[in-house]
Amino acid sequence: MPTATITASARATRRRSAELEAEIARDPGAFRILTGDRPTGPLHIGHYFGTVRNRVRLQQAGVELLVLIADYQAITDRTATSRLPQDVLGLVADYLAAGIDPARATVFAHSQVPALNQLLLPFLSLVSVAEIERNPTVKEEIALGGQAALNALMFAYPVHQAADILALRANLVPVGADQLPHVELSRVIARRFNERYSPDAAFFPEPEALLTAEPMLLGMDGRKMAKSRGNAVPLSATADETARLISRATTDSERLITYEPARRPEVSNLVLIAALCRDEDPQAVAAEIGSGGAKALKAAVTAAVNDRLAPIRARRAQLAADPGYLREVLAAGNARARAAADATLAAVQRLMHTGY
Ligand code: TRP
Repeated sequence: MPTATITASARATRRRSAELEAEIARDPGAFRILTGDRPTGPLHIGHYFGTVRNRVRLQQAGVELLVLIADYQAITDRTATSRLPQDVLGLVADYLAAGIDPARATVFAHSQVPALNQLLLPFLSLVSVAEIERNPTVKEEIALGGQAALNALMFAYPVHQAADILALRANLVPVGADQLPHVELSRVIARRFNERYSPDAAFFPEPEALLTAEPMLLGMDGRKMAKSRGNAVPLSATADETARLISRATTDSERLITYEPARRPEVSNLVLIAALCRDEDPQAVAAEIGSGGAKALKAAVTAAVNDRLAPIRARRAQLAADPGYLREVLAAGNARARAAADATLAAVQRLMHTGY
């Protein structure tokens, strides 16, 4: 897609997202959100400020929230599955500690909802190979390892994600701009299914993207924050581990601390982290540190992160000590998701004349 087109559609989505926020405030019960993460390790502060906090906000506003632990997507780019049990339960602990309420929200795993995965087959027949090849995530994976190294589940990944959303009949998907093509594909699949198999009355609702306004946090080395790069501050880290991670952060040699993301990405990222933790404006945080240099900046960031995360970490430690409870929460979420996806698949089979 030419850049101009991306910008225009991102602008339209931003406008629509503002309307959606107003509709959510008026009638939260009209919305069902599906969102999720791959269980590839503990959540970090980038996840917290980028997505998790927003999910909790929407849950508190009264929107129905479904959170998918995408364990089948975890095997798109790794082969080992032996750590999945601990990573999956770890995610449940991270979610609950951060404020996702199991009494209101549904937390479930791909592998436990067979009907969801079965929808992948008819959906694959609704899209062309060329269309998937144009998906930015798939394109990136091809660029990284080449077509031959790409496994077919990774290739089908955007269609699988559409199955996640449509199986649960979600109508709202909170995403960053990079995930917009996935939501668009879900809309295309819903539309094509409806045209082909349910022309008189649309069966699948077309899900809408709710664009997340949060900026993407960088890791301590100035690259994208990712657990695999060792540059992330996990939600579950101790105060000492947090101090150590932040003390190693990349900065620059200018003593005066300012917030200039384009010119000073690493320093500005640290200022932003402190500002997010303190619910303050980054410019004000930078001004307060002033000519204190990197040392004062890192001390401020460490204190801000540890203060902000202290209650979450205390809750998480309690939860982690009770894996039986975490498993119960997941089992209840799996059962709810199974019931919903079973009903969708039964209707799909009726519409497709495959219910014998
Ligand atoms: N692909 C998302 C990620 O890697 C996780 C995910 C899977 C998801 N299915 C989803 C997100 C459906 C939103 C909706 O982070």
